[in-house]
Amino acid sequence: MKHLLSAADLDRHSAIELLDIASEMSGVNEREIKKLPTLRGKTVVNLFFEDSTRTRISFEVAAKRLSADVINFSAKGSSVSKGESLKDTAQTLEAMGADAVVVRHHASGAAHALANRGWISASVVNAGDGTHEHPSQALLDAYSLREAIHASPAGQSLEGLKVAIVGDIAHSRVARSNLTLLKTLGAKVYLVGPATLLPGALTAQADGFSYSLDDAIEDFDLDAVMMLRVQLERMTASFFPSEREYARIWGLNGDRLSRLKSDALILHPGPMNRGLEIDAKASDSKNSLVLRQVANGVNMRMAVLYKLLAGGSIND
Ligand code: CP
Repeated sequence: MKHLLSAADLDRHSAIELLDIASEMSGVNEREIKKLPTLRGKTVVNLFFEDSTRTRISFEVAAKRLSADVINFSAKGSSVSKGESLKDTAQTLEAMGADAVVVRHHASGAAHALANRGWISASVVNAGDGTHEHPSQALLDAYSLREAIHASPAGQSLEGLKVAIVGDIAHSRVARSNLTLLKTLGAKVYLVGPATLLPGALTAQADGFSYSLDDAIEDFDLDAVMMLRVQLERMTASFFPSEREYARIWGLNGDRLSRLKSDALILHPGPMNRGLEIDAKASDSKNSLVLRQVANGVNMRMAVLYKLLAGGSIND
């Protein structure tokens, strides 16, 4: 595996292999000395043209725990403000010796362009491109689900798990990557949200869809609910009457949580709009995996960097 650009890059075998490597990495992260020498001498560049807390920091921690050198690039304060392009920026950083470039960019397809147009020869990891894909997020979400349902030991998948992805599907790269990866792993995926934010091209790939969260809770016997951030910054039109109406109809609150199965799992990729798509009773409940998702982000990104830069199995 040279790049990780899309959840569709992963067949079932390679996805489960990454989940299993992440599981091994979680053992490293529980040790007193959280460090492996595996990527000593390698350099990972975090190339971020959009803001990030979880993804950028967890790739940085992951690379450092594998003993790689890390260069953090943020477009703010860089020569991007003087008009330097993505291609020139990436080539400049590669000239300083990058083995892997973790890129987040507002343009859908930016990571593909870096990897496939021969601009750079380093491995490319898509850390979020526009509204398109965020594959390492989908991997850490699948890992968090697998951990929570005790589906490891190694090799097991999410076969038959019923997962609803809820909210602003149209603008969500997390939804696109999760739909693909969860289906690859055998889960049943339902898309739920306002009709204005549920693209037909995606509902056609799902096992079902609903314009009502209450109906979805009633009809789909859900094992897990993945709430999405309402991406107000990407909205160029009015997709719902008001934030108050959105929270009332599509928000996950204590009342809706009580109507889910008692052991239903709650996920959110973060950052959360508390009081809009999710309230504290849901996000801070015993069912919530939100902070496990953050912790598992480090395990999963260690697995991704390991696979791209060291190859083979963790036991090699
Ligand atoms: N989930 C996610 O991508 O969060 P950040 O934007 O903080 O990286």
